[in-house]
Amino acid sequence: MSVVQSTSPKVSEERKKVSIRLIQAMKMRHEPIGMLTAYDYPTALIMDQAGLDIILVGDSLGMVELGYESTLPVTMDEMIHHCKAVARGARYALLVGDMPFMSYQVSTQEAVRNAGRFLQEAGMSAVKLEGGSERADTVRAIVSAGIPVMGHLGLTPQSVHKLGGFRPQGKDAEAAYKLLEDAQILQEAGCFSLVLESIPGRLAELVSKNLEIPTIGIGAGVGCDGQVLVTHDLLGLFERFTPKFVKQYAHLAGEMRSAFSAFKSDVKARSFPAGEHTVEMGEDEWKCLEEKLSSTHSNILTHDPSMR
Ligand code: KIV
Repeated sequence: MSVVQSTSPKVSEERKKVSIRLIQAMKMRHEPIGMLTAYDYPTALIMDQAGLDIILVGDSLGMVELGYESTLPVTMDEMIHHCKAVARGARYALLVGDMPFMSYQVSTQEAVRNAGRFLQEAGMSAVKLEGGSERADTVRAIVSAGIPVMGHLGLTPQSVHKLGGFRPQGKDAEAAYKLLEDAQILQEAGCFSLVLESIPGRLAELVSKNLEIPTIGIGAGVGCDGQVLVTHDLLGLFERFTPKFVKQYAHLAGEMRSAFSAFKSDVKARSFPAGEHTVEMGEDEWKCLEEKLSSTHSNILTHDPSMR
């Protein structure tokens, strides 16, 4: 097999691994933070080469990679499996593992143990979990075990049934006030940053200005300290639905379909593999083989007598 050389850009010698401190310093100097989701080795490798600050192994994995209807069925073992692959691919980005449904809600002790698995087994540097004031004790316990926590407010997909669907949050004054309060409580509990999902832009901006820790928005306008998208949405790879807030930077599903059907046509037409995809045997060795086959009166060739 011929080996295709990588054309990826060279990784700078001076480039340092992104730390929690750096993420917080970026807020101080008003430098926007770029975060994307990844679930596998090749995507993490390319994303790291592209220079993303944070890679989130999101539980969106359940929908965009594993084909579930929601994020609810995702297990700790599935998350750990995919986090390990991402950690093998990314050397520089800050790696955050998303705690799946029921891995942190039952008891604080269980939450700390599960959070620990992301760092100990899966090579993550931090975890993310969903919810507001009701999660403050859990956040405190995980942080006091030495594990950085990213919070997640607004549209929290693990509460899809309670919220009545994947719909924007914080649109009335009362809900907006509660979100501001929750953000403050999570910061005090020790979160190093917060995801704000699908909330009004001006509320997200107010929350961001009100906090010392950085906010990462998804469907929350430009006033956040950073932005995140689900990578399959950005690449046009998940066609079941596309949220309004997504910007598609590529249309890979269409490109993949064209490539797969071109391959199928080539196979049916016997135009693949061509000569350049085929290993050849030298003429001398071929002659030797023919002689060996005839001189030993071998009956090895049962289907191709024309070779003799
Ligand atoms: O699971 C996920 O991908 C997320 C992002 C949308 C922030 O939580």
